[in-house]
Order: sequence, then C-alpha cells, then structure tokens
Amino acid sequence: METEERKRLAGIEACKWVRDGMSLGLGTGSTVSHTVVEIGRMISEGSISVVGVPTSLATRELAMSVGIPLVTLSEVGVLDLVIDGTDEFDPGFSLIKGGGGALTREKMIAQSSNAMIVVADDRKRVDVLGKFHLPVEVLQFEWEATRGLLSALCPGTVSIRGGERPFLTDNGGYILDCNFGESITDPKSLESEILSIAGVVEVGLFCDMCDVVILAGEGGVESIIKEGGRLG
Ligand code: 5RP
Repeated sequence: METEERKRLAGIEACKWVRDGMSLGLGTGSTVSHTVVEIGRMISEGSISVVGVPTSLATRELAMSVGIPLVTLSEVGVLDLVIDGTDEFDPGFSLIKGGGGALTREKMIAQSSNAMIVVADDRKRVDVLGKFHLPVEVLQFEWEATRGLLSALCPGTVSIRGGERPFLTDNGGYILDCNFGESITDPKSLESEILSIAGVVEVGLFCDMCDVVILAGEGGVESIIKEGGRLG
C-alpha cells in the first residue's frame, strides 16, 4: 500500500469517533486533510451536524470548501475532540508536531479539547522521539539570539526553516528546526526547558495530550488506544 493510501485510510478511520453535535478541532497536514474532507462529506449527506475550529489558515480554507461550519475557541470554550496529524509519536503517546508549521495553533486547540486523536502512517511510530527535527516557533525579533539559546540545549543543528527566505507561520513567526536525533527520552522536561526561553512562542512537543493514534500500515489500519487515556 502506498503512503498516500495509508494516510487516506487513517484519516477516514478517525471519523468513526465523530458523533452528531460535536465541536471538533480540525488539524493540519496531508493525513488529517482526508479527515476534514470526510467530515465535510458526512455533513453534506446529512448524517452529522458538527462545528469545527481549524488549526491553520490552510485547514480553515479546506474546511470551508467542504462545508464544515466554523466557530472560534472563544465561542465554544471546550472542544469535544481534536483530530490532527503528527510527525512522530512514541510509546508514551508523546508527539513531535509542526512539520507543517502550525504547532502553536495546533497545541492551543489540543489543550482546549476533551480528547485528541492522531492520524498517521506507520513511518511516524518511533521508540524515542527526535529523528524528525523538533520544530520551535519563535518571534522574528532577535531570532538569532533565540537560536543561540536553543543551540545550547540541542546537540545537533538548529536551522531556520526556509533558509534565506524564512517560512512564515500563520502567526507571523519563524520556525527553528532543532536536530536532537533520537535522544528525546524525557519530552516533558525538554518542553519546559524550551518554553522557558523568552522569544520562543511554542515548541512542537505534545505531551499528555494524545489519547488515540490511528495508524495505517502494510497490514491495514489499527487504533492504538492509550491506557488510562480519555478515550480508553
Ligand atoms: C503540522 C503538523 C502535521 O500534523 C504533521 O506535520 C503531519 O503532517 P502530515 O500528515 O502531512 O505528515 O504538525 O504542523
């Protein structure tokens, strides 16, 4: 099975957790975009009525194009469920996110959700986080100084996404990609250390947020449910 087909299967499988009347966080990326399109299809056939909060401008556009009514976090307060993609997940359900640069909005929406489902293909499953560069959103202001402070924590390179023409996030920030290698054994304490640096807006480590990973691999799709999680 091709990677694209795996993404599609995982993305669609997540919709089995969607119930009529829910408020949903709508994640960002190529896998969860299949979820967004499927939710739009379910709305158009009349099987559910839901509202969504998008985690990026790109998802906002996609959701609108498939007819998902959008609201803001301040209108709904707490969301029933967020469905999002990931760049890596470890056995403790900690994640590295931000490959698409939307980590700050994604985390804001995840922290305001009663549960989180992640959709992924099996390349994203790791024993230890960090092979995928860890994205950190920073302010443009004096970003090189912020990079210096991040470099003191990171054993590998810290590079600005986009190089000489930096990638701009939806919030007007830059992304610094930190190459930790497969060394992030304590993601929670690394998250706190990085967040203590002034100039850092958010870091793409998501700890104690994900309840279910829907994983598509060679053998089909499996749902890995976190023991003691909110959907267990
Ligand atoms: C965007 C993200 C994405 O969810 C993550 O990069 C996975 O994307 P894809 O499904 O395209 O591999 O965190 O900021």
